[in-house]
Amino acid sequence: MKKSSSAPKILYLVYQKMSLSNVLPETVRRRGRTTKVFFVFLTLFFFTFFSLLFSRFAIQGTDLGFLPANPVTRIKSPDSSFNKALRVVEEEEEKEENGGGGRSRRVASSVREFVGYETVSVLMPAWEVLVIVSPEAPTLLKASVGGDGGGRIYCLFSNNRTSEARFAGVLPFTDRTAFKCEMPMSTRRRQPFFQPVLIENPAVVSSSVQESPAKKAELIRFNHLVYESLSTANDVVLFVKGVNNRQGINWPPDQFRCVFDLETSGKKHTVKTAVTSSVQEVFRCPHPDLTAFGPSTTNPNIKVSLEIVTEKRAVPSVAYYFTTSPATTRMIANQEPKKLLCACTMVYNVAKYLREWVTYYSKIGVERFILYDNDSDDNLTEVVNDLNRDGFNVTTLLWLWPKTQEAGFSHNAVFSNDTCRWMMYLDVDEFVFAPSWIDAPQPSHRMLRSLFFHKSPSSAVVGQVSFRCNDFGPSDQENHPSEGVTQGYTCHRWVAQQRHKSIVLLDAVDDSLVNVVHHFGLKKGYRWKHLGVESAVVNHYKYQAWSEFKAKFRRRVSAYVVDWTESVNPKSKDRTPGLGFEPIEPKGWSKMFCDIRDHRLKSLTKKWFATGNGTKSKMVWQT
Ligand SMILES: *[C@@H]1O[C@H](CO)[C@@H](O)[C@H](O)[C@H]1NC(C)=O
Ligand SMILES: *[C@@H]1O[C@H](CO)[C@@H](O)[C@H](O)[C@H]1NC(C)=O
Ligand SMILES: *[C@@H]1O[C@H](CO)[C@@H](O)[C@H](O)[C@H]1NC(C)=O
Ligand SMILES: *[C@@H]1O[C@H](CO)[C@@H](O)[C@H](O)[C@H]1NC(C)=O
Ligand SMILES: *[C@@H]1O[C@H](CO)[C@@H](O)[C@H](O)[C@H]1NC(C)=O
Ligand SMILES: *[C@@H]1O[C@H](CO)[C@@H](O)[C@H](O)[C@H]1NC(C)=O
Repeated sequence: MKKSSSAPKILYLVYQKMSLSNVLPETVRRRGRTTKVFFVFLTLFFFTFFSLLFSRFAIQGTDLGFLPANPVTRIKSPDSSFNKALRVVEEEEEKEENGGGGRSRRVASSVREFVGYETVSVLMPAWEVLVIVSPEAPTLLKASVGGDGGGRIYCLFSNNRTSEARFAGVLPFTDRTAFKCEMPMSTRRRQPFFQPVLIENPAVVSSSVQESPAKKAELIRFNHLVYESLSTANDVVLFVKGVNNRQGINWPPDQFRCVFDLETSGKKHTVKTAVTSSVQEVFRCPHPDLTAFGPSTTNPNIKVSLEIVTEKRAVPSVAYYFTTSPATTRMIANQEPKKLLCACTMVYNVAKYLREWVTYYSKIGVERFILYDNDSDDNLTEVVNDLNRDGFNVTTLLWLWPKTQEAGFSHNAVFSNDTCRWMMYLDVDEFVFAPSWIDAPQPSHRMLRSLFFHKSPSSAVVGQVSFRCNDFGPSDQENHPSEGVTQGYTCHRWVAQQRHKSIVLLDAVDDSLVNVVHHFGLKKGYRWKHLGVESAVVNHYKYQAWSEFKAKFRRRVSAYVVDWTESVNPKSKDRTPGLGFEPIEPKGWSKMFCDIRDHRLKSLTKKWFATGNGTKSKMVWQT
């Protein structure tokens, strides 16, 4: 722990920033012993934080600011000049604006002709390159990638190597299509890395592509990037990597400005606004005065970035500015009341667990589910569509940004504020359960809310409720139990874990949106309530049958926890005891982590959700 000398200072800063009285649960404040544990936890937390900071991905800032997006390039035309190709497209676009109805004709006629729409690319972990295409292109590109179009497309890299571009989805907040290409081995050898160009046929690369100025722009790095932006009624929230993690402290807001840029017919308009909050990856600033941008204030091409004032440069950005949030607009249009309780979670390949989780929580009071999907490839869309057809309310948002669980939850707190009052943050292998429900013949929508709508003895309003977790072991299961996790796993470890999960009142969330994954910092005047295991507990089906566990732990989601395969932090409490750094099944896995038999939730869900009887008995979520 070489870096521990700076720990006290950092802790002090964090304590200042997070206003400790809000952040510590009551139970911790009362007991000194637990406080120590919490301190150890914080220290570990920051050690992990530093390990990450100095990890191999640390890079220096670039001077690029807004990278010039890849301009349109003409692939199969004989044009030798890139500018000429560009002019052709501009003329076509003008025709479209004037004549209307030109769009479909152009798309139809261009499918084979153009591939190189405006793109901007980000180097992601594991040599993946995320290529984001401008909003004009999606129909065209999807047609050419999906079945009927039949065509494949490729990334052409600076050293003339190509790799196939895989359709990753449409980014929900900018409506831009995203592709992923693997960076070829030989391209990795030479720095700096440049932006690839999307092409249709690797065998025919015209000189206009070769001369594309995009290839002279450096690839953006995922760890120094403005990756999302959201508008509220009062301000704009930016999500930025690589600024506030440098020393593990938050730079004061006056070090930054939000920069709004619009390029129209060759003229560039820029408006800047002051940053009012700078915490973790979240920055807030007032809306810009758009009169400088001319009459069209709904232009989808207003880029937004964060300027570092002293360095006189902006962080590279793939984010765009919209005046209002789409959710707000829809709400106002439909006059929808807010849902009382929603649930948010980050997912990757959890489709097979989803129906059980959604069914259970829907019946005990969750009205809406928001899934931040990290590029799942297990038919998530089909499963979600089925659930919605059956009357559940499940929304998925593509969320590809690496190591952004905290920021994702901050994002969700703002994004869902128009539709939800309370938000539950937990994973699809976690089931809140209250012993007082055991005798209920049926589940009820009032069950979960009874846990946070308590009359409070003090005058402060409860703004957040947290539960402790029981970590369940494989319980002798060798495979995924077909009747579901609540039926299959019945044995957990001795101690209820320090780890907790929370339900938070979105009105109470501190404006900085600060959170440490499992809970948020609260505004003054709101209380954080910690429930004991006798009131409610989270059944966390953490150590599942080996086949499941292996897949689950391959990917880490938090920004502040190292990968389990890295031997950096062997003592982390997040690490699985008895497990090495390799995904090899430990001997006797199926019997591990089994100290206490706990059939309570199994019996309860059987009573509530089993259909049929005898050998024909099935859980409602079973297919
Ligand atoms: C890529 O190929 C073009 C011709 O197709 C050539 O002019 C250019 O020098 C090549 N670039 C590299 C880095 O090999
Ligand atoms: C997804 O669905 C397709 C067809 O519906 C099926 O062939 C495939 O096995 C499914 N994939 C997974 C991972 O379940
Ligand atoms: C889900 O809830 C949202 C927010 O209240 C609402 O706008 C939407 O129409 C609902 N969707 C379904 C399928 O019920
Ligand atoms: C998403 O998955 C990638 C691995 O493909 C991982 O590096 C990243 O941390 C994940 N991000 C989140 C937010 O889960
Ligand atoms: C939600 O909206 C309320 C009312 O506008 C506001 O006070 C609160 O700070 C918002 N919460 C979040 C997380 O944006
Ligand atoms: C099983 O269900 C059948 C009809 O669905 C019923 O007649 C029978 O009594 C049930 N048996 C038990 C043991 O509940």
